[in-house]
Amino acid sequence: MLRYTTFALAVLLTLASLALVFISPLFWIAFVFFGFFTLIGIRDVRQQRHAILRNYPILGNLRWILESIRPEIRQYLMESDSDKEPFSRDDRSIVYQRAKGAEDKRPFGTREDVYAAGYSWITHSVLARDDLPWDCRVKIGNDTCKQPYQASIFNISAMSFGALSANAISALNRGAKLGGFAHDTGEGGISRYHREGGGDLIYEIGSGYYGCRNEDGTFSAEKFAEQAADPQVKMIEVKLSQGAKPGHGGMLPASKISEEIAEARGIPMDKDCLSPATHSKFSTPSEFVHFLQELRELSNGKPVGFKLCVGHRREFMCMVKAMLETGIVPDFIVVDGKEGGTGAAPLEFANHIGMPLVEGLTFVVNTLVGAGLRDQIKIGAAGKLVTAFDLARVYALGADWVNSARGFMFAIGCVQAQACHTNHCPVGITTQDKLRQRALDVQSKTVRVTNFHRNTLEAVAEMIGAAGLNGPEELQPKHLMIRQKNGQTISGARVYLRMKPNALIDDDVEIMSESYRVPWNNARTDSFRPFEGMESLEYN
Ligand SMILES: Cc1cc2nc3c(=O)[nH]c(=O)nc-3n(C[C@H](O)[C@H](O)[C@H](O)COP(=O)(O)O)c2cc1C
Repeated sequence: MLRYTTFALAVLLTLASLALVFISPLFWIAFVFFGFFTLIGIRDVRQQRHAILRNYPILGNLRWILESIRPEIRQYLMESDSDKEPFSRDDRSIVYQRAKGAEDKRPFGTREDVYAAGYSWITHSVLARDDLPWDCRVKIGNDTCKQPYQASIFNISAMSFGALSANAISALNRGAKLGGFAHDTGEGGISRYHREGGGDLIYEIGSGYYGCRNEDGTFSAEKFAEQAADPQVKMIEVKLSQGAKPGHGGMLPASKISEEIAEARGIPMDKDCLSPATHSKFSTPSEFVHFLQELRELSNGKPVGFKLCVGHRREFMCMVKAMLETGIVPDFIVVDGKEGGTGAAPLEFANHIGMPLVEGLTFVVNTLVGAGLRDQIKIGAAGKLVTAFDLARVYALGADWVNSARGFMFAIGCVQAQACHTNHCPVGITTQDKLRQRALDVQSKTVRVTNFHRNTLEAVAEMIGAAGLNGPEELQPKHLMIRQKNGQTISGARVYLRMKPNALIDDDVEIMSESYRVPWNNARTDSFRPFEGMESLEYN
């Protein structure tokens, strides 16, 4: 409770000085001085706009004072804006402004170094349009799907109840409801706060099978069918991996399991809760696609898909071959980039395991095109996507929609304190501490979630209009220009090479033959391991 010390001290000193005025009128000065801070403290704990002031009355104001002189301090410390922070100050401030519905224009021109390697832009047109609708939808569900879902092209990425507080889940879900977009539950099950909010849900099934598990932790078809029957559940997503910690399980210690978390996950409160690194329901590509089919049947034909961060390319190709062999084709795949976020992950995993989004997305798009399955499968993308340019770029690379996790965390007040793993989140988002999460005012943050969604998509529509296009589906790699290390610029179509339709099944992969052909020929449906004696020395 250290965070209340300053406030308590101010109150005590105010009362003490009041008591002492009878000894000397000079104590009136002290009374006024400490009284001023007491009033600030009272204002801080009562206001609903700033969670950090509710959690750190009086002290929290220092943050704004430092923020306002931050550029000068950084200048003095010779630090650049994005030093050691996942999101730059510029990116965060655009999210804050859009969430507040405040003016999001910039004066004086770009701060980007347009001559730096990697700088990229979207080419605009003389035939620019300024009348494009912002609320674009994508239909998810192929011919075998009975209940296709008209999804927004921008949704809330998976973050489980447990990683996030009840108030955070409530604000996100009510914001999704208000804005008509979807909220992915994350692997922690469907909580009462998701249900109360009423917003569209993507029910994520991780290796812990939370909300649909037997006592021994295995998958329960019966319990799953019950959950999936809820009309609030629009899609089912099997989590294979997330970018920030692919191939890494998780453990929620018994001490952190509240009654609500136990209820959402269907687990006891007196035992540590393990999320294994792999699923127990399947161990071969064929078993995996049959599991997807089982989920489709148990959910009475709702869209079913999976989320992954690309690891061994051959393993993804195994899944695609199993789709071709069995005819079981999922409705969607979500590609998560290695740059994605997490509540907690080992450093090495966060830094050096998993494929970055641009490569992962390009690989998945090309493999599905090469296997002739692209038309049946919609693709979602996630991984550090918060600005309209971030979204437009991945639409151009082939994504049908975008999910953001930390973008929406910023919208509900995240200050990037990076304390998610400590339970001491200063703004009540990634904590199960009831008092800390009280700081997050659900009502005002709900509106911020909806605002962020709408204002970001309006900015996307403006960019697409400026390019003279009619919608995000018309964006292509050729609309991107990228500066290379040698300083020259090149079209995105040359960097993100597109596979010819059916080229993999016709064994006609010209330009990218080796890097696609070898793992494809090594991919099998009966095992995720390569054929005996055929292990490639170069391609995985
Ligand atoms: C606090 C937090 C909790 C997360 N929990 C999950 C989860 O339960 N399941 C999952 O698939 N991904 C989870 N993720 C990953 C995100 O859904 C997302 O894929 C990734 O962070 C990329 O999005 P971002 O860069 O917009 O944050 C979590 C991310 C964060 C930041």
